[in-house]
Amino acid sequence: MRVLVTGGAGFIGANFVRLTLATRPDATVTVLDKLTYAGNAASIPDDPRVTLVQGDIADREVVDSLVSETDLVVHFAAESHNDNSLTDPSPFIHTNLVGTFTLLEACRAHATRFHHVSTDEVYGDLALDDPGKFTADTPYNPSSPYSASKAGSDLLVRAWVRSFGLAATMSNCSNNYGPFQHVEKFIPRQITNIIDGVRPKLYGAGANVRDWIHVDDHNTAVWTVIDAGRVGQTYLIGADGELSNKAVVEAVLVAMGQPVDAYDHVPDRPGHDLRYAIDATALREELGWAPRYRDFATGLAATIDWYRDNEAWWRPLKRETELAYERLGR
Ligand code: NAD
Ligand code: TYD
Repeated sequence: MRVLVTGGAGFIGANFVRLTLATRPDATVTVLDKLTYAGNAASIPDDPRVTLVQGDIADREVVDSLVSETDLVVHFAAESHNDNSLTDPSPFIHTNLVGTFTLLEACRAHATRFHHVSTDEVYGDLALDDPGKFTADTPYNPSSPYSASKAGSDLLVRAWVRSFGLAATMSNCSNNYGPFQHVEKFIPRQITNIIDGVRPKLYGAGANVRDWIHVDDHNTAVWTVIDAGRVGQTYLIGADGELSNKAVVEAVLVAMGQPVDAYDHVPDRPGHDLRYAIDATALREELGWAPRYRDFATGLAATIDWYRDNEAWWRPLKRETELAYERLGR
């Protein structure tokens, strides 16, 4: 099977490539990645079954040529950070909307199977005291330019399924953590701050809740949906990992041998979503998927070890990332 992975030099895509090589002996992988600030060729394993093509998913010629030679497209490429979308939304429109459109058109032309990777943030947020969770029937209500552009990309995929009969599946996952995640994101930012002797930064009071899932569990679920999901269907991916941001910062501090209160509050993110929570019943019951990491502390400890052992991977990103946060006062 020839698999084209867009965004395979990013956090989740690179872990997906690794999982695919380890579990699919018949697969060859082509990564199409623009290598933006978020992409890193060093995240892709050196393996004769993997080829990296540096290019833009909105480049019609490159995309058409690669799609014509593939059996399956797994689409991870995106601008993915909310804080950046509040500073400059324009690359989010280009990549998440125009890029997804370009891939869909190529898959339509070549009748190629497509899997679209998306986020639970398309549903907006839940109140902190709401007993409910997101399901595939929750109305779309995105808050930020990031989540709005992902919501738009999801709707494009649905339209290509309905109007053109494209063989596509979709998945919307909650917040991921694990190795190879850019240090701009919450958990790696705090781990690498502590390694540098800097106190973690908590937006606002830290009451906001995210539903954490280990990246390997996200990716086994993506393969489950590709293998067994119904075409045209959206599956929500989550592992019942709800935690407040304050609880996460405290867990990181304790796991790294620091006092539990050794963090600073910084000004809140504008429009900050309160709570995300996934009901993954359909994925579990219809497709029989289950997460491997059921205990956040274990997955977090392994992630901390990875950042300690792989400073050469993240060190070149750290200074510029912190300067950008400094400009935002966060
Ligand atoms: P990331 O920012 O780490 O990686 C994105 C990758 O896409 C990078 O390698 C980047 O170079 C590449 N890219 C960006 N623009 C491109 C373009 N125009 N053409 C080609 N490549 C381009 O993101 P991630 O966290 O790995 O997220 C991957 C996907 O999963 C995204 O679609 C995101 O919306 C979704 N998602 C992420 C999370 C999460 O917690 N990180 C949760 C749910 C869903
Ligand atoms: P983030 O990793 O940016 O993911 P998302 O915005 O997609 O949820 O942030 C996760 C949560 O952590 C979010 O509620 C914002 C908060 N946060 C902090 O409190 N401090 C930080 O330094 C960062 C980067 C995020």
